[in-house]
Amino acid sequence: MKILVLGGAGYIGSHTVYRLIEQGHQAVVFDNLETGYEKAVHKDAKFYKGDLRNKADIDKVLDQEKDIDAVIHFAANSLVGESMVKPLKYYDNNIYGTKVLLESLVSHGIKNIVFSSTAATYGEPVNTPILESDPTVPTNCYGETKRAMERMFYWTEKAHGIKYVSLRYFNACGAHIDGNIGEAHNPESHLIPIILQVANGTRDHISIFGTDYDTKDGTCIRDYIHVTDLAQAHILAVEYLLNGGESDIFNLGNGVGFSVKEVIETARKVTGKEIKVVEESRRAGDPAVLIASSEKAKRVLNWKPQYDDLSTIIKTAWKWHSTHKNGYM
Ligand code: UFG
Repeated sequence: MKILVLGGAGYIGSHTVYRLIEQGHQAVVFDNLETGYEKAVHKDAKFYKGDLRNKADIDKVLDQEKDIDAVIHFAANSLVGESMVKPLKYYDNNIYGTKVLLESLVSHGIKNIVFSSTAATYGEPVNTPILESDPTVPTNCYGETKRAMERMFYWTEKAHGIKYVSLRYFNACGAHIDGNIGEAHNPESHLIPIILQVANGTRDHISIFGTDYDTKDGTCIRDYIHVTDLAQAHILAVEYLLNGGESDIFNLGNGVGFSVKEVIETARKVTGKEIKVVEESRRAGDPAVLIASSEKAKRVLNWKPQYDDLSTIIKTAWKWHSTHKNGYM
């Protein structure tokens, strides 16, 4: 297959490009490098620097790359906290950018797209584990823009026949098994990279945001899913669409929850480092428990996560963080 990966220089995008190439597919990467890194792009992928909000940028790629089988779309802003203080940035990049993309796909006759959505589309869960059919009432602007993107695809399919799969990820984590690419946000706000920055000596401590939740140890519980398992789900979703599958939405998680304290304890064991902790008050907008039911993805896409053990997941992340203390810098 020849796949156009939008946002292919970012965290999940770069791992998906590696996976595609490792499985003998062709990958074309499009990224504005706002949060992605050219160094994260696989050497065998063709790279175009461009911004989805400039229609000429994406038109140029689709004019030149004639035989694209499907698009995988990761190009978006994805920080919950930032989305609350800069909501219009999220409307502009995530929604306007996707609208421009869809216009270009319509005019170039491309009919299949897989894109990133998020657990944040659900807001406060009404069930544990969360099912795709549960209510979607986002409690932050990031989740709201992802839900709006899902609806944009829904209506665009009806008018223009572009089929889509929306993948709602839970907590993406880990790094490529060879340790050459990994998670590198700037500034970093995610739990596992911050813990491992304490372990690798680039940060003094990890703050635990809230120890008074109604959970087994008072800290928030999340469903951590390895980035390579997410990457594989995108490839399976493309194959599903190319084999005639209907547009649909799938959760991607392991179905197992770990508390913030459990993640820190596991990281201590994996790294052999002490990892200083400071207990702080709750971070605004954090639900206590977020756990996915991914039975639908397993059943329909035949997805089988390989990294279902937290210790193994953290080992892969540590291989990256212990050898790339400054990320891609
Ligand atoms: N946490 C800490 N200290 C930190 C960072 C995080 O205690 O320094 C806690 C958070 O409060 C939360 C858990 O660790 O309970 C995980 O936090 P992350 O920031 O790593 O991830 P989130 O669960 O907030 O967010 C993830 C994705 C988002 C997505 C969201 C869906 O990163 O993109 O899940 O709810 F929107």
